[in-house]
Amino acid sequence: MFRPTTGTVMDNVSLGRAYHLTIKAPSIAAGAQPGQFVHIRCGDTYDPLLRRPFSLHRFDPEQGTIEILYRIIGKGTEILSRKKAGENLDLMGPLGKAFSLPGSRPAVLVGGGMGVAPLLALADKLVDSGVKVTALIGANHVRELFRVEEFVKRGASVELATLDGSAGFPGPVTELLERHLHLEPESFIYACGPDPMLKLVGELAASYGTGGEVSLESFMACGVGACLGCVYEIFGEKGRQYARVCTEGPVFPLEVVVKGELS
Ligand SMILES: Cc1cc2nc3c(=O)[nH]c(=O)nc-3n(C[C@H](O)[C@H](O)[C@H](O)COP(=O)(O)OP(=O)(O)OC[C@H]3O[C@@H](n4cnc5c(N)ncnc54)[C@H](O)[C@@H]3O)c2cc1C
Ligand code: FES
Repeated sequence: MFRPTTGTVMDNVSLGRAYHLTIKAPSIAAGAQPGQFVHIRCGDTYDPLLRRPFSLHRFDPEQGTIEILYRIIGKGTEILSRKKAGENLDLMGPLGKAFSLPGSRPAVLVGGGMGVAPLLALADKLVDSGVKVTALIGANHVRELFRVEEFVKRGASVELATLDGSAGFPGPVTELLERHLHLEPESFIYACGPDPMLKLVGELAASYGTGGEVSLESFMACGVGACLGCVYEIFGEKGRQYARVCTEGPVFPLEVVVKGELS
């Protein structure tokens, strides 16, 4: 049973259209794996009542810190954006299933918009494990491309795409993926982003005969498998079935997602 823990805000910096939050939370950092998330009680009152889930953008067990990359969507994230260094946060985590390692295959990370959030922690782990990493990062506009330099610093080969052509390739990030798979079809894909992007990623993976994993988002209540508030239709061993994103995910094999709700 997960017990809430108290974290202390160290920094909560505006990046323009997103925020980068660093929290001292040694017990969470100690057990964290890329792909997992933390469930945060954003306010101190009963509105909003429910915790809000956020991917672990990065974590450092030695420093005892976790990092979150988020954008303001509604009340919870607006309250979060006003948190200052030194304030406490009620946290639960690390929760959910993590990404797996690709063995000896190269990795290609595909992030659309805020979907880049869980991929930096993954890039850290892959690079440390000796895996060759390419990061394809897409957004609507250059101002929605976040933390690109951190992927570069970690030694990932980075390519950018924007739908309005304001930076990098002018078009969807999936076109960069197609080019990449043409050159390196054995790449293992890790993707996070909007459902239409994930659907295209799945179709490309199938046509190039490769596989991968996706990190999904859904509305969540309990975050620990008890309420069924987060179910997502997947295509598992028993055919079409519902999976709880909070405990059976948020990371799923690409094919079970693409043949499920996204089909
Ligand atoms: C496993 C997981 C990991 C996540 N990681 C991140 C992350 O790293 N960074 C990040 O910014 N967000 C992340 N999210 C999404 C984040 O949890 C929501 O943005 C947040 O809960 C919104 O809370 P709110 O109170 O601000 O908005 P709410 O008041 O809950 O919602 C306001 C409005 O936005 C809509 N809405 C709510 N959530 C979303 C959404 N995800 N997409 C589109 N519309 C939505 C609602 O229907 C409502 O109309 C993650 C979600 C999951 C499930
Ligand atoms: S949020 Fe309650 S079961 Fe997933």
